[in-house]
Amino acid sequence: MPNLLVLQNSANLETSVSRRLVATFVEAYVKRHPDAEIVHRDLARNPLPHLSPSLAAALLPGQGAATPDLGSADILTEELEAADIIVIGAPFYNFTIPSTLKAWLDHVVRVGRTFAYVDGAPRGLLPPGKKVIAFVASGGAYGDGPASAMDFATPYLRFIFGFMGVTDIEIVRAEWQAVPERGASSAQAATERARNLAAQIGTAIPPYQQPDGSIPRRSGLAASL
Ligand SMILES: Cc1cc2nc3c(=O)[nH]c(=O)nc-3n(C[C@H](O)[C@H](O)[C@H](O)COP(=O)(O)O)c2cc1C
Repeated sequence: MPNLLVLQNSANLETSVSRRLVATFVEAYVKRHPDAEIVHRDLARNPLPHLSPSLAAALLPGQGAATPDLGSADILTEELEAADIIVIGAPFYNFTIPSTLKAWLDHVVRVGRTFAYVDGAPRGLLPPGKKVIAFVASGGAYGDGPASAMDFATPYLRFIFGFMGVTDIEIVRAEWQAVPERGASSAQAATERARNLAAQIGTAIPPYQQPDGSIPRRSGLAASL
């Protein structure tokens, strides 16, 4: 059964475009896959704290207490490890992702757990087969042309998930939300894309299985660190 991890981030609880796109995708997906297990994290309504000095130390091997209390970082990382599809609502704030999403990343991008350096090169440690779908809503448009140089959101999302081993990343943009006559058609196209994705990906992501049939939670490399 597919697992979805849904991360909402818009601080606009009434008319958010990214929230609506996430909801459209999830609703359409669940209609086709009623057995889907969904973990919802509303990181705007219930923001995670910034890293505290003790948690930051605990996340680095050898620097924290002998038995560090990783608390929510472990829970959040387990949710990510278990997810087949990570659905993200990402309002474009000040040219990048919301700080709520960055705080979540600061809890799950973890050396020896979700990434490692092997012979000086980074290696993602998340189990293979995951897909990220990010619905990015912006006031202007950054998808192409010179303005794309001001998009510090989607290149970062692609990079940071790739760093953890997730390279299947779909970005769905709803642009021009500050310009109603242009924003409506972009949001409409994004809504159709959300429905199409829900129809297409369904069973295309079987859970990754090892030859013995088990589903890995952590790679051997991670376990050895
Ligand atoms: C604090 C803040 C910063 C924003 N910064 C930008 C920006 O840098 N570029 C842009 O095009 N739109 C910016 N916007 C507009 C939002 O991206 C736009 O309203 C978008 O629809 C927000 O997503 P949502 O509808 O899901 O809340 C900003 C909005 C807010 C509230």
